[in-house]
Amino acid sequence: MLLHRYDVVSSTQTVARALAEEGAPHGTVVLAEEQTAGRGRLDRRWDSARGLNLTFTLVLRPRIAARDAPLLTLGAAAGLATAFDLRVKWPNDLVTAEGCKVAGLLAEMDTMGDRIAFVLLGVGLNVNQVDFPEWLPNATSLALLGGPQDRDEVLERAVAAILAWADHPDRLSLWRHRAHTLGKHVRIGAVEGVASGLRDDGALIVGGVPILAGEIG
Ligand code: BTN
Repeated sequence: MLLHRYDVVSSTQTVARALAEEGAPHGTVVLAEEQTAGRGRLDRRWDSARGLNLTFTLVLRPRIAARDAPLLTLGAAAGLATAFDLRVKWPNDLVTAEGCKVAGLLAEMDTMGDRIAFVLLGVGLNVNQVDFPEWLPNATSLALLGGPQDRDEVLERAVAAILAWADHPDRLSLWRHRAHTLGKHVRIGAVEGVASGLRDDGALIVGGVPILAGEIG
């Protein structure tokens, strides 16, 4: 594994961007024990207990059109769900069967025309944290599900799963198979209804309406 390990960084996304801009190859991993400005989806923060979990960014250089980038993240989430026996809450949260969140993914990309130059796939995976603040009532970890884990071994499994599935032709079938969301009544913004399917472009069909981005409320 092409691993760059840091103690404290602002965000592994920022460090990985600098490395990618200097030409870091596909599969480069940037990992930090602590982030002072960890970023989540939808402009949120991502706080992670120092030294207990995994916070890393994977540099991907897929040969696909920029419009297909969301499929990479869906594939990565499906691969991780399979590797750790979890479910995927649309679009790419990793949750237990009860819907408690174990990990989140954040994708940022740089394009060259209509092609992807690189994707920075950030992963925040709760591994050995067993106490969560009261404002995260829905959070859980691999340790709470199956006892203490070797973080290096978890990292190897996670990176292998992402590299195997992000670009795999069957990634959406795997996503559907691992879905937590399908068949459930959900609300995304103003749209509410049963999530009946995942379209081939990654849109979730809710009450017959395709939703390409957002969050289940
Ligand atoms: C989410 O569920 O909102 C996505 C969270 C992604 C967090 C990871 S931690 C490693 C990488 N660096 C960041 O600043 N964010 C991602």
